[in-house]
Amino acid sequence: MPVDWLDLTGRVAIVTAGSAHGGIGHATAIELAKAGADLFVCDIDSVGVQQTAREVETLGRRCTAVTCDMGHADAIIAMFDDFDRAYDRVDILINNCGLGTRYRPEELPLEEWRKIVRINLEGTWVCTQQVGRRMIAAGRGGAIVSISSIAGSSALGRGNFVYSVTKAGIIQFTRELAVEWAPYGIRVNAIQPAQTMTQAMTNMLNDPQLDPKTLTARFLRGIPLDRIGEPEDIARAALFLASDGASFITGHTLPVDGGNLALNAGGSKLWPMEDAR
Ligand SMILES: NC(=O)c1ccc[n+]([C@@H]2O[C@H](COP(=O)([O-])OP(=O)(O)OC[C@H]3O[C@@H](n4cnc5c(N)ncnc54)[C@H](O)[C@@H]3O)[C@@H](O)[C@H]2O)c1
Repeated sequence: MPVDWLDLTGRVAIVTAGSAHGGIGHATAIELAKAGADLFVCDIDSVGVQQTAREVETLGRRCTAVTCDMGHADAIIAMFDDFDRAYDRVDILINNCGLGTRYRPEELPLEEWRKIVRINLEGTWVCTQQVGRRMIAAGRGGAIVSISSIAGSSALGRGNFVYSVTKAGIIQFTRELAVEWAPYGIRVNAIQPAQTMTQAMTNMLNDPQLDPKTLTARFLRGIPLDRIGEPEDIARAALFLASDGASFITGHTLPVDGGNLALNAGGSKLWPMEDAR
């Protein structure tokens, strides 16, 4: 461990949607385990989440893996019975689970709107409430980190409407809870990734309705650091926000986006006018 304020030895962390077949949740579980945390990981993908548990155990940490659909509040609440059987403390929650869908807003079916809101907002809240209650009762404080998106504060278009609305919701969720739970020493922060190379991104690039070259070029035009993100970029920011190194940071949403949100849509990383022609 290079610096002691990143050391999570003795802490217990929950990561949602942490299957080894997923991107950011899996990478975050691994980074937290490398920093010394024991893990409780859930995902709808039972095979992938067991794989994550094996990887965490290989790092010498404990890991309980459970199958849970974050779109079902009752299943999330029931999952905490499993949690209480496995651990007697919780220090960190990584709210990673979040799904997208693409429809023109005027064609978006109500059921699809409800599904995305249920998973991205209701599921996140139900899980966070369970964790918050346990942290408050224990009186040791804690850290909650939720994965929003650049789409939470700038529009993506291309049918991402309900996804973006939920990701904006995560930012205000973060501010409100940071204020409500500060008296208990519970810090609440969020991360806004830009396009990150995970299965969700691969699926988008394989969508027959979209041309992967054009789409990648469009993404990169908006990223001054000129690359797509890697899951570890997000995972390391989550580790920092979960650690004592961030002990005076709460209510904050951190872009991890290669400069995407710094760049005005009418601006350009090219000089002087190469892309204006
Ligand atoms: N990849 C990106 O470009 C990007 C950009 C910004 C924000 N994000 C956000 O990061 C988070 C993780 O995204 P990712 O790209 O790593 O995803 P991913 O597609 O790599 O993995 C998603 C995981 O979620 C699990 N999952 C799906 N539905 C579930 C459900 N109902 N209940 C429980 N688990 C479920 C899947 O099994 C999978 O393990 C999401 O909140 C996403 O919105 C991703």
